[in-house]
Amino acid sequence: AHGTLIDPHGRHIDRLRVSVTDRCNFRCSYCLGAHPKFAPRAELLTLDELDRLCSAFVACGVRRIRLTGGEPLVRRNLLSFVRALSRHLASGALDEITMTTNGALLGRYAAELADAGLSRINVSVDTLDPKDFKSITLGGDVDVVLAGIEAARAAGLPVKLNTVVQAGVNETAIPALIEYAHARAMDLTLIEVMPMGLFAGKRPPSFVSLKKIRADLEQRFTLTDLLDRSSGPARYVRVAETGGRVGFITPMSRGFCETCNRVRITSTGQLVPCLGHVEGLDLRAALRGSESEGPLIDAIHAAVAHKPVGHDFATPRCAPVAVERSMNVTGG
Ligand code: GTP
Ligand code: 5AD
Ligand code: SF4
Repeated sequence: AHGTLIDPHGRHIDRLRVSVTDRCNFRCSYCLGAHPKFAPRAELLTLDELDRLCSAFVACGVRRIRLTGGEPLVRRNLLSFVRALSRHLASGALDEITMTTNGALLGRYAAELADAGLSRINVSVDTLDPKDFKSITLGGDVDVVLAGIEAARAAGLPVKLNTVVQAGVNETAIPALIEYAHARAMDLTLIEVMPMGLFAGKRPPSFVSLKKIRADLEQRFTLTDLLDRSSGPARYVRVAETGGRVGFITPMSRGFCETCNRVRITSTGQLVPCLGHVEGLDLRAALRGSESEGPLIDAIHAAVAHKPVGHDFATPRCAPVAVERSMNVTGG
């Protein structure tokens, strides 16, 4: 063991988010857009390199690993990677291995993912309306995603839904998503658009504060705040009418950095201490330059020692430092 990771602001870093590929089978308008640029294949970490890196984080006390992308399920042989990582679950070193996915390939892989040791899954769904879904994702089929969600549930994987809320795009789709999720005992988390990637340094044109969305929802539902913030950035409410939970992820309108518990690895092996900062520390060179884990462990401690107190997105009107890196590279 190589100690626990405590950052200079006293936060215990026990979660790692790993973008296993920058590729995706969707083209969401606020993320990749119609003309995405992908890293050359040789720059992506191999699954062996990802395994070494994740294991180094486990040695540093990380207890939860989330696989993201891009779309993690378009990465070839991802199942064998999950299966290999699950040895850390078996040994008791990890509490969970989770995944954030667009759901399109879950129909094919859900049962095998559960079997390989995946603990639970978060699926991004911005609307249940087939036409709107197609236009948000530039071609995605919502029925395929919903079938994927059912496959995950049937495989025994707990599912949470994520919805990026955009003005004039899917604001009115939220009540139906709440009813859909809660009828299946799933949480639904709403997310504010962040000014990165395509929107680096700008106010995303479709930005809407979740304060407003919450007020709209309160016209129709009775919401009670739940105080437990132990898990992540979301603040949850209970909906009296459905009995279910809705989370609010509000990087722009109401910060949550003071309880941050995570760092990230990009698809090309940069260790990013904060989603909303430009700085990253290259681990690919350390991985490719040496068989030993010492340099990796040192780099992980160095990155955590430089974790900033909070993101640089500032207000939606003005971001002082443009975060050009896009979500598919960083993995949310
Ligand atoms: P749970 O373990 O289920 O609580 O997952 P989570 O909400 O931490 O993970 P998920 O991948 O579902 O995150 C949903 C979205 O929240 C991401 O795509 C990001 O947009 C946002 N998010 C997650 N973590 C952070 C963070 O540390 N900072 C910021 N600014 N946004 C985050
Ligand atoms: N702001 C907020 N969320 C974003 N996502 C992608 N780009 C952004 C952005 N600029 C979300 C996706 C998915 C998750 C992985 O990240 O919709 O839910
Ligand atoms: Fe943590 Fe940075 Fe996210 Fe804030 S923006 S919660 S500091 S990763």
